[in-house]
Amino acid sequence: MTQEQQKRSAAQAALAYIEPRLSRKSIVGVGTGSTTNHFIDALATIRHKFDATVASSQASAARLQEHGIAVLDLNAAAEITVYVDGADEVNAARELIKGGGGALTREKIVAASAAEFVCVVDESKVVDVLGKCPLPVEVIPMARGLAARALRSLGGHPAWRENFLTDNGNIILDVHELMIEEPQAMEEAINNIVGVVCNGVFAAQAASVVIVAGASGIRQF
Ligand code: 5RP
Repeated sequence: MTQEQQKRSAAQAALAYIEPRLSRKSIVGVGTGSTTNHFIDALATIRHKFDATVASSQASAARLQEHGIAVLDLNAAAEITVYVDGADEVNAARELIKGGGGALTREKIVAASAAEFVCVVDESKVVDVLGKCPLPVEVIPMARGLAARALRSLGGHPAWRENFLTDNGNIILDVHELMIEEPQAMEEAINNIVGVVCNGVFAAQAASVVIVAGASGIRQF
């Protein structure tokens, strides 16, 4: 099975997982990325079974609307039943690195607003220690140099994601070569850097469940 097929199969498993949890009043939180795109396409098949969605990016909002699915502003949504999103890395404690697509801040906000966070990944995303992939950090543009120096002092090698602005108008520094042995401590330390809006470690609030699609099928933990 190709990685793309695994992503599609994980997304279909996520749909099967959330469907019994939904009512006609439910709001579904929807993440960003290629795995989530498969989930959006699958969600369209049950659009009569929930009320509306909240999206973590303009790209996901547009895809949902193309399917005729209502997208609400987060502040207009009373309660989000479940949030479904992919990840760049997942460890056994369901802690994540996210933000490969640059939507980490809105993803963390929608995830924090949901009663349950379902993370959907292909097998390649499962790691023992977070940090094999670069850690995205969203930074206010004028603080780029200041934040980069502080990230270096934490042991990382930040690289500016050039020609990219987040939906919030900020830049991304991708921090290479961080072995994140203590995700919660690292998340907090990076949040404390002046000029940092948000970082892609999701540990203070990890996923509630991770659905993994691999060569031997679907598993969840
Ligand atoms: C976007 C994200 C994505 O969930 C993450 O990058 C995984 O993407 P994909 O499903 O395309 O592999 O955090 O900001």
